[in-house]
Amino acid sequence: MGSAASPPRTLESPKATQEELKRVAAHRAVEMVESGMTLGLGTGSTAAHALDRLGDLLRGGALRGVAGVPTSLKTEAHAARVGIPMLALADAAEIHLCIDGADEVDPELNLVKGRGGSLLREKMIEGTGGRFVVIVDESKLVPRLGCTGAVPVEVVPFGSAYTLGLIRKLFDKLPGFHARLRTVKSKAGDQQEELFVTDNGNYIVEMFFHDGIHGDLSDISDRLLRITGVVEHGMFLGLATSVIVAKKDGSVEVLN
Ligand code: 5RP
Repeated sequence: MGSAASPPRTLESPKATQEELKRVAAHRAVEMVESGMTLGLGTGSTAAHALDRLGDLLRGGALRGVAGVPTSLKTEAHAARVGIPMLALADAAEIHLCIDGADEVDPELNLVKGRGGSLLREKMIEGTGGRFVVIVDESKLVPRLGCTGAVPVEVVPFGSAYTLGLIRKLFDKLPGFHARLRTVKSKAGDQQEELFVTDNGNYIVEMFFHDGIHGDLSDISDRLLRITGVVEHGMFLGLATSVIVAKKDGSVEVLN
């Protein structure tokens, strides 16, 4: 893995915290966009800064003929608001560049994505073979995937409790492993929880590994994908072409 660091610059205020770092990383990635490109448009708070910047550049005329393939319904709505023309995945002859955030980045540039719930569309679009530039603040760098929270797995609703059982069985030898179906506060607002439903009408199983995943990631990926009710998981192995890391000292590092 190579890296190129720009000289540190002083952030304007100590309050220029995680949000400012996300913006810095996103703007750096948007510098790679050229007129005429088709882009994969990521999902999440970091990717949102890239959408805003792209919208500004398109409106100002600095970029022309750019179209985006959105990785979620939320991103589709955001892109429409800021005036980014969009294409369906099937209508994009080629996706030249994808820009998206991540929940975790390991030293080999493997990722955990999908804590926002959009992992399936993200992987479909970001795995199409063009450049995939990941934008993060340095808090997302981890020694092993699964260190800081859930590794999400999208499962079909039919038999989801059974599928959850199969996932648990896969890792029952790992001390501290646990898994559950993701829930969110009920929209009824009465403190009730309900199952989280993805843009594709599926559920999410959250897997938690004590101290991260120590095993062979591609073996774990294969075993998960062999479970029939599993649609996809949030480990993005070998997909990122570079990772732009905005750091608290004001520097930006590009990992390749
Ligand atoms: C959504 C994702 C996001 O990219 C990931 O959760 C990072 O989000 P944020 O930029 O808000 O930290 O994978 O499914």
